[in-house]
Amino acid sequence: MKKKRSSEAKFLATLVEVNGALAAARSPHAGLQRGLEILRDLYGVSRTSVVLRRTDSGRLEIEASEGLTVEGRRASWTPGEGITGQVVQTGRPVVVPRISQEPSFLNRTGRRLKSRTSETTFICVPIPGHRKPIGAMNVDLPFQKDRDYERDLQLFRVVATMFGQALRVKQLVEAERQRLLDENIHLKEELKQRYDFSHIIGTSSPMRQVFEQIARVASTNTTVLIRGESGTGKELIAHAIHYNSTRAKKPFVKVSCAALPDSLIESELFGYEKGAFTGATARKKGRFERADRGTLFLDEIGDINLSTQVKLLRVLQEREFERLGGTEPVKVDVRLIAATNTDLEKAIAAKTFREDLHYRLNVFSIFVPPLRERKTDILLLADSFLEKYAAEHGKAIKRISTPAIDMLMAYHWPGNVRELENIIERAALVCDGSVVHAHHLPPTLQTAEASGTVSEISLSESVGAYERDLIQDALKTTRGNRLQAAKLLNSTERIISYKVKKHGIDCRRFRE
Ligand SMILES: Nc1ncnc2c1ncn2[C@@H]1O[C@H](COP(=O)(O)OP(=O)(O)OP(=O)(O)O)[C@@H](O)[C@H]1O
Ligand SMILES: [Mg+2]
Repeated sequence: MKKKRSSEAKFLATLVEVNGALAAARSPHAGLQRGLEILRDLYGVSRTSVVLRRTDSGRLEIEASEGLTVEGRRASWTPGEGITGQVVQTGRPVVVPRISQEPSFLNRTGRRLKSRTSETTFICVPIPGHRKPIGAMNVDLPFQKDRDYERDLQLFRVVATMFGQALRVKQLVEAERQRLLDENIHLKEELKQRYDFSHIIGTSSPMRQVFEQIARVASTNTTVLIRGESGTGKELIAHAIHYNSTRAKKPFVKVSCAALPDSLIESELFGYEKGAFTGATARKKGRFERADRGTLFLDEIGDINLSTQVKLLRVLQEREFERLGGTEPVKVDVRLIAATNTDLEKAIAAKTFREDLHYRLNVFSIFVPPLRERKTDILLLADSFLEKYAAEHGKAIKRISTPAIDMLMAYHWPGNVRELENIIERAALVCDGSVVHAHHLPPTLQTAEASGTVSEISLSESVGAYERDLIQDALKTTRGNRLQAAKLLNSTERIISYKVKKHGIDCRRFRE
């Protein structure tokens, strides 16, 4: 009776301890290991191991063990092989009272079977998984004639179930983590595709900021005000916002406010009813209506007259308007993007632009920096325009010469990207070789380094510039070697050296 009670206490104590160990462990592996130690310390288990099925190979390998030799810990089974393999396959436990008398015992973990002094009892229980066992727990106990195998088996089955749960929690957490990782990668990929503004060129930090702003605002319905000097790419950005928004498949309608006379702008924006004025022979939809569910781009908003500003303000506030000569309100779902190169604050001060309209438009503003403030983009833009126009004009132009690049870099670009594009198109037209030279660029740039203003250039200066170009180019090809450069130009080293000095060319520059 006393013995029974003490064995009962041992049974419960073991379960409580194992449970606590699994709960406290930082990883399931550590929990299993601690659990096995408890079986050894509290339950007198001599050797024990947890064997799990590897998802990749399908083999059964030891995950945690107590009392095994180093070699024993490396043991593995194929499913169905030996007692362990059978237990995992069938899900039924096996009890071998005396292993010395069991022929199917594989002895993978290297027990000393021949020992006469001690006989071993072996118990193998499945570790349950979602549907099938995910592994097994092997236990060696010292053989005892009157051992209650049922009771022991019961304990080990409960412990194995606890192990199985701990491992399953880990699997679920791992699967969830993997799912989140996958989802994250997918979302990033989607973002990259959606916000791939590959047609807008620029890697300078102000342009990167612009890209970030586009990405941030595109998917919303927010009104956007794009500001920047003429030719900086405001229209391009308005396009990018629309085509990266949920309205991408709906119309993008542009209104050039500066191009429309005051008398026409309102009928263009809001449309008119039949008979609204002489010549209005039928009802006509305005741009607002045509942009329904899409984007309306109001370019040069700074040029809009005051009475139209009032009407525009009302549409922005109420999302509805009346056609000219009409009384029935028209409701529209339009996202507004406005652009301007005029200083709206000044216009407000001069009372030519309404402050309340400015306030409505300026919900999210993007400032496009002038080209002179993002010099690192110049070369990228120039190369891309060169590729485009060379192809367009059927020319095999490969590159821009160093002196020409220097000039592009030194110029202050009052017309911004548009001016650069025009200049490169012209250069591609006049260029007859594979390289754009300084003399292919307009005179505006020839003296740009000095003043940034237009000036006449003399024949001798032009010839000199051309000569300098040719020499620099040859030096570039020969990495600064004057003798070879002279040969390329069908000249002598003496002459080249003289010209190098005369034009102040720094040969070291080409050696790097
Ligand atoms: N970052 C850029 N990458 C490639 N092309 C650009 C870039 N910025 C501008 N461009 C090109 O420069 C030209 C002028 O751009 P855009 O018409 O968008 O300028 P804008 O700011 O609207 O000028 P404006 O105020 O005079 O109307 C266009 O041909 C456009 O394709
Ligand atoms: Mg524009």
